Formats: sequence, structure tokens, C-alpha cells
Amino acid sequence: RTRCMEEETPNRTAVAEFLLLGFSDVRELQILHFVLFLLIYLAALVGNLLIISAVALDHHLHAPMYFFLGNLSLLDIGSISVPVPKAMVNSLLNSRSISYAGCVAQVFFFMYFAVTEYSLLTVMAYDRYVAICQPLHYEQVMSRRACWQLAGASWFVGFPVAMVQTMWIFSLPFCGPNRVNHFFCDTPPLLQLACADTSLFEIEALSATVLFIMFPFLLILASYTLLNPIIYSLRNKEVKGALRRTLSRENVIWSGLESQSIEWGPKSSYSPDTKKLLSLSYTVVTPMLNPIIYSLRNKEVKGALRRTLSRKFSLQRM
Ligand SMILES: *[C@@H]1O[C@H](CO)[C@@H](O)[C@H](O)[C@H]1NC(C)=O
Repeated sequence: RTRCMEEETPNRTAVAEFLLLGFSDVRELQILHFVLFLLIYLAALVGNLLIISAVALDHHLHAPMYFFLGNLSLLDIGSISVPVPKAMVNSLLNSRSISYAGCVAQVFFFMYFAVTEYSLLTVMAYDRYVAICQPLHYEQVMSRRACWQLAGASWFVGFPVAMVQTMWIFSLPFCGPNRVNHFFCDTPPLLQLACADTSLFEIEALSATVLFIMFPFLLILASYTLLNPIIYSLRNKEVKGALRRTLSRENVIWSGLESQSIEWGPKSSYSPDTKKLLSLSYTVVTPMLNPIIYSLRNKEVKGALRRTLSRKFSLQRM
């Protein structure tokens, strides 16, 4: 009788786990990927932890901008920890499986960190805007309390967004196949596996992207457009350089946007392998490069790091 029931509902059974198709099945390449992932992960951890400790320990860096950079580093550690450790373990063990709950967690946290990062970048752009355009009111506008509130709001806003999206995705039936053509559980490849009409969800996801990524992006762009003429009229070389670097943040944001359009764009325009590689650049490489782009090129941060490290080592010698 059981057999008959199975035949009646051959692909109606809900999947119990998903399979992540990584980059390769060749054992040597898997080992190579493991090593590369490990190196990138360690570099991201070290770079971001250095910045967090410098911001926490050095009183020269107790200005809102540095607090936000510290928060950004914390976020980077979080967001790279969503896909990479699992991908590393799977490469090492020549395994593909990820549990249903693991997949839910990856979708949730990936979305949470993405939305939080965009909110935080918007807050940072606002901070620079006030610092440059309303310098006399800066202390007042960016008070300690205001910074806490702005940072807190950034950390909070991603929560409901990711919650709703994740619950919606996993309310869709997944009845097999369960092969996610990606190296982590990301929304678009997952949606292709749902055995239901996903067009409503795609519309919702698109509006969420516009609201929580496009909108902050436009705000950031607007504030930089307002700042640009001021920057070019500045005499002070130091300030000018610092501001230019702030502007380079746009590039990162831009690549984030591009990745969104690649993922959500016409399905045929990129092969799954191209998508995987592109997504690697913004999920894994960006969190590793962020400390270099934002902080390690900053003189203040570099000085603070040197002070922090030398203090540590002289303490150890005692
Ligand atoms: C994050 O921002 C808040 C508010 O400005 C600050 O108090 C906190 O130290 C920051 N966290 C890190 C890790 O820098």
C-alpha cells in the first residue's frame, strides 16, 4: 500500500534537505577552493577585527564616522560568515548537503546583513553630509544619542524585512528537485526549485529591493552629488583625499546593485556559472576588501592600529 501511495505522489513529498552545487566535483579543485575560501575568510576576519578593536580601544577614533566603520566591519564579518564556512566544510568533506533549517538560516541572515549594510551605508553618507554641509551643527545633529539611534535603526530594520521574506520563501512548497545551483542558499536559485507560481513573490522581492536597496542608494547618491562641488573647491589635501575615498564607496554599492540586477534580471542572460562567480565577488570578496577600502587607507585608522598593536606587544613583553 505504501508503494502505491508513493507512486500516487511521486514528487509531492517535501524535501528534507537541499544540495548545494558548488563550483566543481573534481576533488583537487575542491581542495583548492577550500584553501582559497579559508585564506579569504581569514583575511576578512583579521582585517575587520583589527578595525573593530582599533575603534573600540583608541580614543582618537571616537567620532561617529569611526563608530560606523566599526559597525560596518562587524557586519562584514557577519555577512561573510553566512556562505563561506558551510561552503568550506562541504568542499573539504566532498559533500553537498545542507539541512532545510540550514538553508532557512542562510536565506534569513544573508538578507538581514544585506539590508543592514545598505542602511548603515546610508547613515554614513548622512553623517558625511552633515559634517561637510552643516559643520556648525554637526556636534548637535550627530550627538552620541543620535549615533546610537541611527546605528540601532540600521541593525533593526533588516530584521522584519528578512523575516517576512524568509517566511514567504519557505511557505512555498519545495517538493524536489532539491539541487540549488549555487554555493549557498540564495533566494533566486532557491525560487527556481519551488513547485508553485513564484511571480507574486518576485514582484514583492523586487519592491523590497527597490525600497531597501535602491532607495538608500539614491539617498547616498544624492548626498554625494551635493558634496561633490564642495569637495572639489577644498584646498586641504588631507580632507580632499579622505572625502574621495568616501566617494569610492559608491563603487561598492554599485556592484551590489549590479549583482541584484544580474540575479533578478532575465534568466537567460547569464549562465549559472557566471552568476556564481559574480556572486562570489560581492558575497565573499567585498567583505574582505571593505577594511582596505574604507579604513586601512585612512591615516587616523592606520595610526590607531599602530598604537593598539604596539601597546599589545609591549604588554606581552612585560
Ligand atoms: C556601532 O555604533 C555604535 C553607535 O555609534 C557604537 O557605540 C558602537 O561602538 C559601534 N560598534 C562597533 C563595533 O564599532
